[in-house]
Amino acid sequence: MSHCEELSYSASKTPLSSLSSRLLWLANHVPMNSRVVDVGADHALLSLYLVESGISPFVIASEVAEGPLTVAKKNVESRRLQHLIDVRHGDGLCTVAPGEVSVAVLAGMGGSTMLEIFQRSPRVVENLPCLLLQPMSDSGPLRHWLRTVGFVLVDEAVLHEKQRIYELIAASRVSHAANSRADCLVPREDSLSDPLYAPFTASPAWVWFAERFGPLNLRRGDAITRLWVEQEIVSWRRILRSLRSAKEPFKNGREAEFRQKIEVASDWLEQRDRCSDGSVRPDSPAN
Ligand SMILES: C[S@@+](CC[C@H](N)C(=O)[O-])C[C@H]1O[C@@H](n2cnc3c(N)ncnc32)[C@H](O)[C@@H]1O
Repeated sequence: MSHCEELSYSASKTPLSSLSSRLLWLANHVPMNSRVVDVGADHALLSLYLVESGISPFVIASEVAEGPLTVAKKNVESRRLQHLIDVRHGDGLCTVAPGEVSVAVLAGMGGSTMLEIFQRSPRVVENLPCLLLQPMSDSGPLRHWLRTVGFVLVDEAVLHEKQRIYELIAASRVSHAANSRADCLVPREDSLSDPLYAPFTASPAWVWFAERFGPLNLRRGDAITRLWVEQEIVSWRRILRSLRSAKEPFKNGREAEFRQKIEVASDWLEQRDRCSDGSVRPDSPAN
């Protein structure tokens, strides 16, 4: 059992009307009574919700930019919650001491920014059993990193909000003790332990696809995930068309790459639509 799952979840999380469904999903995945850092807290709405709903006894609302930092401080002070929410100024997880919190929430920034944040603070990440993430881009490399450094996916979701599709990821350390080596954040391709990827390991193209869209999202295969995959196929087709008319140095073998992306995603759509319950378990994925 993972660290996140061992902790109990709150039974009475009344939604704050001001909290988006995206932030609410993240809040509802914070294990009860855990200390949290909200990296890129902006307005600190999530931090406020976590303490006001009794989910967290202490939250660090961390912000790098002066403007949002001022708003966060004002919001926390106006609700007299400075004793429960510490608004800190700084880059990523540099504002946090190793072991100070057990959950890190990073939402509304690119996956590559998240990866840079993790890589700049290895000692903090080593001591974090739970990560709750909402990447705006590059979720494939982010999922790849998670599985190579010993995290497993606990839950994933795809939400449609304000005419955008958002993806959400809850990840937990496989075994905290087993990862306490000094080099535990060095990606290890030989220790890909998350069993959720097992149905997608028949070919590198399917592994890439599972990391790009999330193995749990793909297994669930709900209407919103279907729409998301379809939208991506449309945008890859557009890129492929522009690559076809591009001159050779710009093509750089990328036509084949996009053709393969389109092929694997189309295969998945076909399999998904064949399953009467909407869920997909690609037993024999295409090579
Ligand atoms: C789009 S806002 C998202 C705010 C909130 N997390 C949410 O999801 O609604 C991104 C915030 O992350 C902050 N940010 C970006 N890079 C950061 C970093 N390296 N460290 C801390 N904050 C960062 C930005 O200043 C901005 O306030």
